[in-house]
Amino acid sequence: MNILVTGGAGFIGGNFVHYMINNHPSDTIIVLDKLTYAGNLETLESVMSQITFIKGDIADRKAVYQVFEDYSPDIVVNFAAESHVDRSIENPEVFLTTNILGTQVLLDACRIYGITRYHQVSTDEVYGDLPLDRPDLFFTEQTPIHTSSPYSASKASADLLVQAYYRTYGLPVTISRCSNNYGPYHFPEKLIPLMIANALNDKPLPVYGEGKNIRDWLYVEDHCKAIDLIIHKGNVGEVYNIGGHNERANIDIVKTILSLLGKPQSLITYVTDRKGHDLRYAIDPTKIHNELGWLPETTFDVGIRITVDWYLNNRSWWERIISGEYQDYYEKMYGNR
Ligand code: NAD
Ligand code: TYD
Repeated sequence: MNILVTGGAGFIGGNFVHYMINNHPSDTIIVLDKLTYAGNLETLESVMSQITFIKGDIADRKAVYQVFEDYSPDIVVNFAAESHVDRSIENPEVFLTTNILGTQVLLDACRIYGITRYHQVSTDEVYGDLPLDRPDLFFTEQTPIHTSSPYSASKASADLLVQAYYRTYGLPVTISRCSNNYGPYHFPEKLIPLMIANALNDKPLPVYGEGKNIRDWLYVEDHCKAIDLIIHKGNVGEVYNIGGHNERANIDIVKTILSLLGKPQSLITYVTDRKGHDLRYAIDPTKIHNELGWLPETTFDVGIRITVDWYLNNRSWWERIISGEYQDYYEKMYGNR
């Protein structure tokens, strides 16, 4: 099988490439990635000789069609996206270009050149949020789309296009909507890696609002396993929610990280809340469990230790990131917060 992985130099796409090489060594992996600020070839360094890497933009029709001409992918897994909610609040436009138009270009290429499966890596954020005082409520695949941020609106728009290409053109598509991931190679603008990096540098840990917002955390390899199952065994035209019933308040995550690193709680700093901040995400994964037998394998206690150890043992990976353009970003986002 020729598998085109778009966004394969990012956090989850990079982990997926490693996972596929380990678990499906006879497949051919082609990575198409624009290498935005979030893309990092060092994430793929150890597997570079086993894949084909192409630097390119999924919204660039000519470039995408050329990839299909050259490599005839059987399966396309689309991870490529602008993925950070805070950036989408500051500058929505690139989210629409990459996440919506880029998806449409990929879908067109799939129609023209033919594929056996197009898989869209989506997010639970398309469902909006749940109240903090109703722990009995969960997102199912039937929960209406109800987005909050420009990021989630762009991801939801892409999902609708994917479903339209299934219904209108019969394109063999699947969509997965996963909860928050954590693990190695996570860009340090997101909660867990940012808090690990700041704690290691004895810098303040900026917790938005009161830190009570809840996210449902999944170890990234469990997400990769779920996508592997969906592209091979999932039913065409279907949406699968992915999550492991691991809800945590942000403040508890931050305290866990501090205690694992032996750093003082006095580093915690409460800062102005995110605009439109979603309160709680919580996935009901019954469908993927019942239909495909998926269950998460890494508990949070184990996964967070692996993750913290990874950041301790791979300082050069993240220190290079936070020493560059990231500093301007950090100053802009957190300087006056
Ligand atoms: P990321 O920001 O770490 O990586 C995105 C990758 O896409 C980068 O390598 C970047 O260079 C590439 N990219 C961006 N624009 C591109 C373009 N126009 N053309 C080609 N490549 C481009 O993101 P991530 O956290 O790995 O997320 C991957 C996917 O999973 C996204 O679609 C995201 O919406 C979804 N998702 C993420 C999470 C999470 O917790 N991180 C949870 C659920 C779903
Ligand atoms: P994030 O990792 O950006 O993921 P998402 O917004 O897609 O869920 O943020 C996770 C949670 O952590 C979210 O409730 C916002 C909060 N947060 C902070 O409190 N401080 C921070 O510096 C960041 C980046 C996030």
